[in-house]
Amino acid sequence: MTPPLPTLLVTGGAGFIGANFVLQMRQRQQATVITLDKLTYAGNLQSLAPLKDDPHHRFVRGDIGNRELVAHLLEQFQPAAIVNFAAESHVDRSIVSPEPFLQTNVLGTGALLETACRYWQRLTGDRRDRFRFLHVSTDEVYGSLGPDDPPFTETTPFAPNSPYAASKAAADGLVRAFFHTYGLPVITTNCSNNYGPYQFPEKLIPLMILQALAGKPLPIYGDGQNVRDWLYVADHVAALAQVWQKGLPGETYNIGGRNELTNREVVHQICDLLDSRQPGPQSYRAQIAFVKDRPGHDRRYAIDCRKMERELGWQPQETFATGLAKTVDWYLTNPDWIAGVRSGEYQTWLARQYGEG
Ligand code: NAD
Ligand code: DAU
Repeated sequence: MTPPLPTLLVTGGAGFIGANFVLQMRQRQQATVITLDKLTYAGNLQSLAPLKDDPHHRFVRGDIGNRELVAHLLEQFQPAAIVNFAAESHVDRSIVSPEPFLQTNVLGTGALLETACRYWQRLTGDRRDRFRFLHVSTDEVYGSLGPDDPPFTETTPFAPNSPYAASKAAADGLVRAFFHTYGLPVITTNCSNNYGPYQFPEKLIPLMILQALAGKPLPIYGDGQNVRDWLYVADHVAALAQVWQKGLPGETYNIGGRNELTNREVVHQICDLLDSRQPGPQSYRAQIAFVKDRPGHDRRYAIDCRKMERELGWQPQETFATGLAKTVDWYLTNPDWIAGVRSGEYQTWLARQYGEG
């Protein structure tokens, strides 16, 4: 007889990485999933549409800060783990308005930890031993690198520079404290920039794809020489599955793609792919516009992911070229999803950030 599937409570599972994680967990039949999501502007039920009739998936709309609701879900579904993706995630929005970042990323994570800890403290035996609180975080907590600095390791001191990064660093601190103080079996991952299907088009790669196709300017901040370390989202999801199953409580794991590229190089590659797939009268590169820099813009991120490789046997499968081609093709072939996210809120954001009328 096959053993019953473990249940995961996935918070923020209607967002970009969360939805990719939930879809992959269900596709590979690795877990029954309860998705808890507040459905902010970034949450999108259309991303979970393939699971509409899946008896092993349940969607619940709600806030990670709602202790009563979370306690109820934990009692009802008795998950083997919580995977916390729920967050405000866009740096530019945190610069415009830090408050929602403090609310969800700091206070929300704190409330989720407290509720999880009470649940875990009442578990016994194997269920208590195997329970995990997996917290999904970012490389931005480490700050910015110079051109010749070695990549961030798990022991690089925190030096967050944006309200977003500072709120994630605070959350990571709370997660660590719940391990040291209460013994809650937490694991934190710090990942580099993700890209792929279902990413909200406020972030660099989907923004550039959609702006290019709409014949609009491609706004590169500053001199375009800022460097990010890009990881295809399915590789991040595979890493998280490994961390859940094999990671050690109290540990942190850095996840990255060894794909350091300047923003200018990324935008050029997007334009070149679009030129080959959907050629216009001139190259999409002609739409590139250098605009005012992001305040406090971190110059370079790079991740040393040797601990993930050495201890958990994980390695990314996609190169940037293969991952970007898949991503561009996904945006070209999913017009319904795109129409769904181009709501009034998105138009308001474009107008505010880029002065588009
Ligand atoms: P996203 O903005 O696409 O999705 C966030 C999701 O969380 C949305 O569905 C939103 O509705 C939900 N949410 C927000 N506040 C909530 C609350 N209070 N309660 C419940 N749900 C809430 O973000 P993403 O890019 O998928 O990132 C997911 C996580 O991974 C975040 O914690 C982020 O910091 C981290 N991360 C992201 C990247 C990246 O490149 N996108 C890289 C490393 C780490
Ligand atoms: O490093 C991990 C982080 O990556 C995650 O924690 C964040 O949630 C995620 O949003 C991302 O943060 P970035 O600020 O690096 O991503 P973003 O896509 O906003 O920007 C990537 C780079 O592109 C950055 O150097 C800023 C630049 N950029 C971005 C936008 C939106 C532009 O030049 N123009 C733009 O319009």
